[in-house]
Amino acid sequence: MKGIILAGGAGSRLFPLTLVASKQLQPVYDKPMVYYPLTTLIEGGVRELCLISTPHDLPRFRQLLADGSFWGLAIEYREQPKPQGIAQAFLIAESFIGNDAVSLILGDNIFYGADTFQRAFAEFKTGATIFGYHVNDPERYGVVEFDANGHAISIEEKPQQPKSNYAVPGLYLFDNNVVSIAKGLKPSARGELEITDVNLEYLRRGQLRVHRLSRGFAWLDAGTSSSLHEASAYVQTIEKRAGIKVGCPEEAAFRRGFLPLERLELLAVRMPRCEYRDYIAEVVAEAKRL
Ligand code: DAU
Repeated sequence: MKGIILAGGAGSRLFPLTLVASKQLQPVYDKPMVYYPLTTLIEGGVRELCLISTPHDLPRFRQLLADGSFWGLAIEYREQPKPQGIAQAFLIAESFIGNDAVSLILGDNIFYGADTFQRAFAEFKTGATIFGYHVNDPERYGVVEFDANGHAISIEEKPQQPKSNYAVPGLYLFDNNVVSIAKGLKPSARGELEITDVNLEYLRRGQLRVHRLSRGFAWLDAGTSSSLHEASAYVQTIEKRAGIKVGCPEEAAFRRGFLPLERLELLAVRMPRCEYRDYIAEVVAEAKRL
């Protein structure tokens, strides 16, 4: 399975923070926002990645992540000149996807919690897998409705009268048919190729699985200055209490077996003295003790 991180858009709701650095490069507590979705994909076992952003912001992402080889990854880059919809990612990244299945994660979606995602990645074979998360403001999202047996029966994009409280978070797993489905989409009333229309097509074909995320799971929004601050505070609380980092790509790559212990150690040695380096050094020391 390949992975796309969609990290474009204007970030206008974070103005003036986004005048010089895009939304997905803003700090969420102790690391850039894009580290969190990147880590989610690595934890899912995804090693070949494509990051899509604006022509203006792409150089900064390259500076941050390069070709990913120092983490045992292979990262490619593609431009999205205008934000014409999440599903446009499959057209932009067509040559990257090739004949493979592909996961897409939004660069501003931060997840923390149970291993539901890892299981979904491991079990994925065909069709589409998406998730449902209980929220108190479903009208802001794609909303999925379930029947009495827990099967998804409808999905609506930002409905005025939501049929449930289950929002669809920004992580999607698709088989290779997603490319031809995206090619057949028409722009919506807001002028975008909608990811909800892709999901609806899989639903129509009887090939959509929707996993409901459990109560203990956190899906954080970092799209406004207040929610960005709250996301930082949440990550800080978890990290302090548990002594583990959320969204640490080096650690995830090591635990997935993409990065050997010696290389992880070398990365730590080359970092400037900081809490992040201390943490990686502790991961290395712990692995050596075991
Ligand atoms: O966050 C999950 C929600 O994301 C889903 O529940 C919705 O079904 C889905 O449509 C989307 O909702 P929004 O319309 O609110 O997403 P937004 O326009 O805020 O874009 C999400 C991120 O993707 C944002 O960081 C910018 C980036 N993006 C978006 C578009 C439309 C791009 O990079 N390119 C784009 O063309």
